[in-house]
Amino acid sequence: MKVALCGLGEIGQIHLRAIRASEAELVAVCDLDRELAASSVGDEVPVFSDVEEMIDQAGPDAVDVCLPHHLHVPVSVTALERGCDVILEKPMADDLAGCDQIAEAAEGAGRRVGVSHNQIHYKPSRRLRELIDSGELGEIRSIYERLWMGGKYGGWREDATQVGGGLLMDAGVHRIYMAEYLGGPISTVSALMDSARSEDSFVLTLGFESGATGVIQGGYHGPDGVFDDRIDIQASKGMAEMLGCEAFFEGDLEGDVRLRTRLDGVWADDPVIDHWDESVIASVQAILADLAAGRDPEVGLEQGRSAVAVVEAAYRSAETGRTIRISELEERVSG
Ligand SMILES: NC(=O)c1ccc[n+]([C@@H]2O[C@H](COP(=O)([O-])OP(=O)(O)OC[C@H]3O[C@@H](n4cnc5c(N)ncnc54)[C@H](O)[C@@H]3O)[C@@H](O)[C@H]2O)c1
Repeated sequence: MKVALCGLGEIGQIHLRAIRASEAELVAVCDLDRELAASSVGDEVPVFSDVEEMIDQAGPDAVDVCLPHHLHVPVSVTALERGCDVILEKPMADDLAGCDQIAEAAEGAGRRVGVSHNQIHYKPSRRLRELIDSGELGEIRSIYERLWMGGKYGGWREDATQVGGGLLMDAGVHRIYMAEYLGGPISTVSALMDSARSEDSFVLTLGFESGATGVIQGGYHGPDGVFDDRIDIQASKGMAEMLGCEAFFEGDLEGDVRLRTRLDGVWADDPVIDHWDESVIASVQAILADLAAGRDPEVGLEQGRSAVAVVEAAYRSAETGRTIRISELEERVSG
């Protein structure tokens, strides 16, 4: 499968590693910053600064989109309409209508879309999922997640129109898809934010379809260098603490323990180990393998949209002071 990569910034560099180490063939790269693109690939493949030109000249089977959020929809739709499958970084789109535009373009072209929700490929997340599936933890009752960061990121992340919101739409999306990966579909959201749709801090209270509850709390207001993305689970038979994912990469959390569990009344360190960048590589390679085999990726249109729907519900809740049902959001979108 021939793949063209669009965007060679922070995450594009890791996608580049993933594609190079996969069965897929890298055929072109594209970045507005041609020097960055050229220095990333040398003479390996042609370099472009225009996506349409890249697709028309390189003829890829799939386009990998690692761009600021406001470009996810136009670039995906362009690629799909030209007959390519699409790999998208999170979030799938900068709003719900954008998710629907991508889905329509995919349906119209008969192509597939994979969204990289990399943290579900982090081995401690997979291990936690195994403990849930095997029944060892029992029924999930509550999930607590945090996203404590120090120092706001600059560049396009300072511009709410390019992000489609603030911290929740950016790094917060990882917390949302992890909540659904571990707890199942979210049905209600109530949120408190400093400034909805350009938020630096938020608290979300979640109701899951299963009856479980969850809290996600995030903010940029920690000391510089802090990145804390811990997840705690309380279940009917046990408990678990996932100490972090990006916390061991972006932040200064150290050590080899990633997951602690309380099973049969005994706390223990689980031996599972992994690294954030490896989870990104695993996620991209899983999507590439599915697309090459003509299968829908594990995280595709439905799961990508679901995470964006929870963000939208959180914004509406913060704006109105009401608890928002996800189903109510769907009525409004289709109405
Ligand atoms: N999975 C993760 O943990 C993770 C981490 C970081 C970023 N991301 C996601 O990856 C995406 C990109 O974020 P990033 O941090 O790599 O951003 P970045 O700013 O580091 O890189 C973006 C790149 O896109 C290029 N670009 C901008 N407009 C373009 C255009 N019109 N055509 C071609 N190139 C263009 C820029 O020159 C830049 O090199 C976002 O969706 C973000 O949420 C995910």
